[in-house]
Amino acid sequence: MGYMLVFCMLSTFFSMRASGGALSSSSSSNNVHGIGEVFNVMMEGAVGDGRTDDGEAFQRAWLHACRIPSAVVLVPAGRKFSLRPIVFAGPCASKLQLKVEGTIVAMEGPGSGTGDHKAWLEFKNLRDFALVGNGVINGKGRRWWSQVCRPTMKRCNPGSKEPPNGLVFQNCVNVRVSNLRIRDSPKFHLTFTNCDGVRATGLLITAPRNSPNTDGIHLKDCQNVFILNCRIRTGDDCVSIQTGSSLVLIEDIECGPGHGISVGSLGKSRSKACVWGIKVDRATFDRTTNGFRIKSWQGGSGHAHGIMFLNAKMNKVEKPVVIDQYYCDSATPCANETSAVAISEIIIANITGRSSSMMAVDIKCSEHVPCRNVVLQNITVTTESNKDKSTADISCWNAYGFITNITSPMSCSLKPEPAGTGLFDPYRNPTRPLGC
Ligand SMILES: *[C@@H]1O[C@H](CO)[C@@H](O)[C@H](O)[C@H]1NC(C)=O
Ligand SMILES: *[C@@H]1O[C@H](CO)[C@@H](O)[C@H](O)[C@H]1NC(C)=O
Ligand SMILES: *[C@@H]1O[C@H](CO)[C@@H](O)[C@H](O)[C@H]1NC(C)=O
Ligand SMILES: *[C@@H]1O[C@H](CO)[C@@H](O)[C@H](O)[C@H]1NC(C)=O
Repeated sequence: MGYMLVFCMLSTFFSMRASGGALSSSSSSNNVHGIGEVFNVMMEGAVGDGRTDDGEAFQRAWLHACRIPSAVVLVPAGRKFSLRPIVFAGPCASKLQLKVEGTIVAMEGPGSGTGDHKAWLEFKNLRDFALVGNGVINGKGRRWWSQVCRPTMKRCNPGSKEPPNGLVFQNCVNVRVSNLRIRDSPKFHLTFTNCDGVRATGLLITAPRNSPNTDGIHLKDCQNVFILNCRIRTGDDCVSIQTGSSLVLIEDIECGPGHGISVGSLGKSRSKACVWGIKVDRATFDRTTNGFRIKSWQGGSGHAHGIMFLNAKMNKVEKPVVIDQYYCDSATPCANETSAVAISEIIIANITGRSSSMMAVDIKCSEHVPCRNVVLQNITVTTESNKDKSTADISCWNAYGFITNITSPMSCSLKPEPAGTGLFDPYRNPTRPLGC
């Protein structure tokens, strides 16, 4: 199924259930807006003073609402609710909403609490669920960041606990996360794993530029994902797309600071990875290390296929576009291997702005599994790092494809596709690659 068809189906579905007006603060029967009974966490005993553990009240509100179609769990404005790691589990009746108008803060730092939690706020086994509102979700990550072991750090406790991710969605169908401000997560801010039908819209996700592993949105094994109108400023990837993800549309995103949007890393430890049908349209990157990046380890298998990166603006981005089949983040160099995650039908078009290095596009493909059908069109990136040169470099290694209208074709020699294989419409709807 093509993007547009999926998109229309999902947007119809979601626009029908967009919240339609004021919610009463106490329980009420179905109202004209189609919003069902409202369970205000205050009515369930939450204190909302920013210190008291309100987990039990949230859990009670959730359990009540979960049974009733179109119910709403309301986290009211003007109060701050403190939560330990908590699981909001389904299955629930359809069209459940968690509406956050107030502030939710994390209670536990690395020194407190019982047991290891991989997630702070976990949502699992939900269908037709929406997390919405104009409130704030603050993971208080600062307490964790100084403990995380990073090669660049002077002080680091090797026995320290792995920080939890902030908001974690697992095993879901048709979920929406809208309009919230999500900040300072101990690790990734918002993750979706094994979900079909995701809409993340109008989100503002922030963490300091030097906070470790604070990816904005992290996807793994998800299909039909729409990330629209989001602003993400963190210390790591703005959006990270991992294996098993397909039909992902990212539009009108503002990234930076951070590491940009990335597909991968794929194929680590000789694993098989499949990612296909990714489109990033109208992104702006401000002072990020990368703009758009596809990275894979040597020795893996599988395919990254049908990926478009269009209409992007770069402001002082170190490496605006990177395709790297030699990704390796270990201290010692990774050995060269003969297998790799294949990369094909990659379209990079209409990229403008400034690079903070000499580089505009850097493509390094495997000698044994070269990149196929790479299309570069309308790329005009200037550099500010060298006064004698105004256009940044485009470099290509072991890639096949074609180039049109590039103001700086320096060391890029995309090899022409062999006769009979070079004709493809780069803008057709993507399809699942063979073997995936
Ligand atoms: C791997 O291959 C690349 C490309 O041929 C080469 O530049 C690099 O030195 C090799 N690395 C090792 C560790 O052999
Ligand atoms: C590139 O930009 C031009 C001019 O704004 C626009 O007409 C064209 O559709 C864009 N190309 C893509 C692939 O989006
Ligand atoms: C390249 O840019 C020109 C002018 O902005 C536009 O007309 C054309 O559609 C663009 N080409 C592509 C492939 O986006
Ligand atoms: C080439 O790109 C430049 C800069 O984006 C644009 O102004 C021009 O119209 C493009 N030309 C073609 C033939 O696409």
